[in-house]
Amino acid sequence: MSLINENFLELQDSYLFSTIAKKVAEYTKENPDKKIIKLGIGDVTRPIVPACLDAMHKAIDEMGTQEGFKGYGPEQGYEFLRNAIVENDYNQYGIDIKTDEIFVSDGAKCDTGNIVDIFAKDNKVAITDPVYPVYIDTNVMAGRSGKFNKEKEIYENIVYLPVTAENNFIPELPKEKVDIIYLCFPNNPTGTVLTKDELKKWVYYAKENKSVILYDSAYEAFITEDNIPHSIYEIEGAKDVAIEFRSYSKTAGFTGLRCAYVVIPKTVKGFSKTGEEISLNKLWNRRTCTKFNGVSYIVQRAAEATYSKEGKEQIKQNIKYYQENAQIIKNGLEEAGYSVYGGVNSPYIWLKVPDKMTSWEFFDALLNGVNIVGTPGSGFGKHGEGYFRLTAFGTKEDSIEAINRIKKWKN
Ligand code: MLT
Repeated sequence: MSLINENFLELQDSYLFSTIAKKVAEYTKENPDKKIIKLGIGDVTRPIVPACLDAMHKAIDEMGTQEGFKGYGPEQGYEFLRNAIVENDYNQYGIDIKTDEIFVSDGAKCDTGNIVDIFAKDNKVAITDPVYPVYIDTNVMAGRSGKFNKEKEIYENIVYLPVTAENNFIPELPKEKVDIIYLCFPNNPTGTVLTKDELKKWVYYAKENKSVILYDSAYEAFITEDNIPHSIYEIEGAKDVAIEFRSYSKTAGFTGLRCAYVVIPKTVKGFSKTGEEISLNKLWNRRTCTKFNGVSYIVQRAAEATYSKEGKEQIKQNIKYYQENAQIIKNGLEEAGYSVYGGVNSPYIWLKVPDKMTSWEFFDALLNGVNIVGTPGSGFGKHGEGYFRLTAFGTKEDSIEAINRIKKWKN
């Protein structure tokens, strides 16, 4: 008899974006003539830029030659890409990261989910709320969350850090001691950011408490304002306490190609039960070698091309396109009378739903009323209730059309 991992029984509902996709599929089946605008999941719509396409074509041709053929690559990623990351994403900004501190992967979802493997079950985990559901779910699967308390709508062993309009979407330091802290800035789902001074507090906290910060900066390319850190390593001391996650998904439109990376400085340490310091870089490397055979050569060449002169310029144009969409949505919603957050340093716009409606009621009303799909805030956690997320990753035409429909719907 095979016994299951009963932690999975503690998971709530199905994965958020699968639930939404199912609801939309049902609606479409019943209303085949309606033109639905999808601003739900943060999936990109701009095609892969020419610099990356050229690099992939070249890599494909190489694979067809005896000299150029590649079998298994290094599990951690090819040196050419790891060096390009170090140079372009860190050294250029005065951040000293070394090539062997970079691990190339097939996505930040997998990385932020898999990282729990290297931490003990007994760690106390702090998670902002609302939050990208992967952080919670993977801790539940690993048995670190404790039971779900239905009444309080929380997992008993998780420390929740509310981020709402009441605290300006700035999480407060935990009152109790925590060992692992998830931070995502620019934030998914709220689209809000932390200044350098705010982020400093977390680095100090982690140093004082020997905690590790898991910093998801998948949306850093969308930052427009000064004094907003693109990397946690801009903060002094962060290299001792933080692991950073980056992705080409939103930056370069790789949601379908799949490529991301994790930075684990050698100075970030965890502890054994006997108090011995252990390098997390070493543990992650061990895990990677056992469970992963690397991202395809072709895709890594495409990722490398994002750092070429042409690649950078072309990607900048795509980001600008989404930033303009964010402006269109944000301004349009404000004109329609909504309270709106995010959208300035982020492709996500977070709005307060009209009085007395729940996030899911607003989801249904928007879908049925004006055929627009968004993401209910409560799907990201209890403190997301009463909020709703729209993404700027649609087309410009859809963003404009969505706002026109919402304005008419309101009036
Ligand atoms: C989101 O919509 O929150 C993201 O696209 C999900 C993801 O990156 O996996």
